[in-house]
Amino acid sequence: MVKISERIAALRWEDVLASLWGSGYGRLGTLLTAEECGDLSALYGQPELFRSRIDMARYRFGRGEYQYFAWPLPALVGELRAGLYRHLAPAANEWMAALGFDQTFPASQDGFQRKCAASGQTRPTPLLLRYRAGDFNCLHQDLYGEVVFPFQVVFGLSKPREDYDGGEFLLVEQQPRAQSAGHALLLERGEGVVITTRYRPVRGKKGFYRTNVRHGVSPVRAGERYTLGIVFHDAA
Ligand SMILES: [Fe+2]
Repeated sequence: MVKISERIAALRWEDVLASLWGSGYGRLGTLLTAEECGDLSALYGQPELFRSRIDMARYRFGRGEYQYFAWPLPALVGELRAGLYRHLAPAANEWMAALGFDQTFPASQDGFQRKCAASGQTRPTPLLLRYRAGDFNCLHQDLYGEVVFPFQVVFGLSKPREDYDGGEFLLVEQQPRAQSAGHALLLERGEGVVITTRYRPVRGKKGFYRTNVRHGVSPVRAGERYTLGIVFHDAA
């Protein structure tokens, strides 16, 4: 199997970034094999790999649960995080400039991790989510401190229509002085999608303006749906 860093390098980044700028998300296509998806989903049952488990209903985040990985991240998760970061960092810098934020990101995930640590953000944020019939995730943003990387990546690990029904990935964009617009994406098994973490710069008549983007998951109607979330900033 081709190394994950090589698979990431072979993605059509130009198209991904164009879609990110145009719609606030960019589909990476199928990056993970069915076997890798099965292996990642199976990690869910190994509590020693995680630092915390969240029952979404308890916090009124939705219904279902997820777990944040502990250090050290499983090899594949760490490789995905570092490999994707490297390709997204230059776009993140342009994104922040367009949003009017005076913030830049180092070229590597290691460098960014040090920046998070300097801000007191040292706990890992990649996570596995498990949804069963009736589960859903309310619209939200994954912010864990002052340092925020403007993109994150979600991977579908289960096969839609076969392993589960429903469970569309949702993105809702609040536009200034207008009603909100939504996207619903059905993630194929192994497919990744890059989304904006918080804001999207939209080109207007007088430069860029900001929209606020939240994401969530529509109710799973049947079966079981696993996803892997790669958040790049660590948590306080
Ligand atoms: Fe999230």
